[in-house]
Amino acid sequence: MLKKPLITAIALGCAALAGTGQAQAADLTISCGAVGAELTLCEEGVRAWEERSGHRVDIVSTPNSATERLSLYQQILSANSSDIDVFQIDVIWPGLLSNHLLDLAEVLGEDAGEGHFPAIVENNTVEGRLVALPWFTDAGVLYYRQDLLEQYGFEAPETWQQLTEIAREIQEAERAAGNERMHGFVFQGRAYEGLTVNALEWVASHGGGSLVEPDGEISINNDRAAAALDLAASWIGEIAPNGVLNYTEEEARGVFQGGNAVFMRNWPYAWALAQSEGSAVRDKVGVSPLPAGPEGQSAAGLGGWNLAVSRYSENPELAADLVAFLTGEAEQKRRAIAGAYNPTLEALYQDDEVLEAVPFFGTLYDTFVNAVARPSAVTGDAYGRVSNAFFSASHDVLSGNKSGEQAVADLERDLSRVKRRNW
Ligand code: GLC
Repeated sequence: MLKKPLITAIALGCAALAGTGQAQAADLTISCGAVGAELTLCEEGVRAWEERSGHRVDIVSTPNSATERLSLYQQILSANSSDIDVFQIDVIWPGLLSNHLLDLAEVLGEDAGEGHFPAIVENNTVEGRLVALPWFTDAGVLYYRQDLLEQYGFEAPETWQQLTEIAREIQEAERAAGNERMHGFVFQGRAYEGLTVNALEWVASHGGGSLVEPDGEISINNDRAAAALDLAASWIGEIAPNGVLNYTEEEARGVFQGGNAVFMRNWPYAWALAQSEGSAVRDKVGVSPLPAGPEGQSAAGLGGWNLAVSRYSENPELAADLVAFLTGEAEQKRRAIAGAYNPTLEALYQDDEVLEAVPFFGTLYDTFVNAVARPSAVTGDAYGRVSNAFFSASHDVLSGNKSGEQAVADLERDLSRVKRRNW
């Protein structure tokens, strides 16, 4: 009964409705994609499972922004709709969505999470129920133009101060040489989940804590956090284009991959695309840990995606089989090599073919395993509100509407109100 309006909602919110052979009803529907090569890689994996199992699967792609994806999923799940069997869910969503998701250990067995990083399996276990299997993990890294840094006599920056100076110098020199579209630094500055991660990285790398600490303490109202946000605001219109205030991952990648930025903060997936045929920066890019603030150390925000089965699925066992296949070793290896998606299976970080395709999976291994988590576990159901408050406050500072000091003080007050009722 709910099928029509929901699919319409999805079509409206999405870049595309993929899927073939509409004439014959599919056995399952999976929602995956759409950032970078996500959708294509998902399609390839699903086709492989179809051949193996003889079943048919429809694929529904989603918006690029994690914030928009979440509201779409919440809309579908809160209607108890069976339209989508398998959901690609963010590492920060298990607490928010667990009531709508199946316990995969019940269907696939108690050892379903074996071989995956234990921290991710724990993250996906809510009140003893394994609500999603890890698909790929993510951590923020710094991309830089190796060729330009060499040409101008610089090494990859270790502090934000160095990044700011190098970015300014190369931007000015390149513009003077006729490359007027060159920018120093691009990142995710739109008011959405991606800014929550970027801002958390600035704050944590200044020694300013991680917004809400694992014990529930709201730690954001401190000088280092304020200084971190002020520093980021000082980049806008200087080393970063004004447009960065509306950038998600893909807009930042577009500028960098087109050869028009010295530095970019992004996730590992951007590597495979930067190295692809037709990329203006192929073989010109280095990847390093993000810089540190004056009193902190490099902090990579932890991200990643998992596959979950809807509690309302009419084919839960088949859906769980698809999830087990897509999150299994062969698929994770293929996705790591083709798309630079970080495996969640520890053993693949020792795989020669994987390391050859993405050398920094080896060299930055510590960055990946020590990434800073957003406070989704401790804030549970309230995480959406916490993140919204943080990215809005950060966006206010970036846009020059508030000082860092004012923003973190206001944010502490707002979060305290949310905390009183929630954690
Ligand atoms: C990446 C991360 C995800 C995060 C999102 C924010 O997709 O894997 O965890 O929420 O970026 O934009």
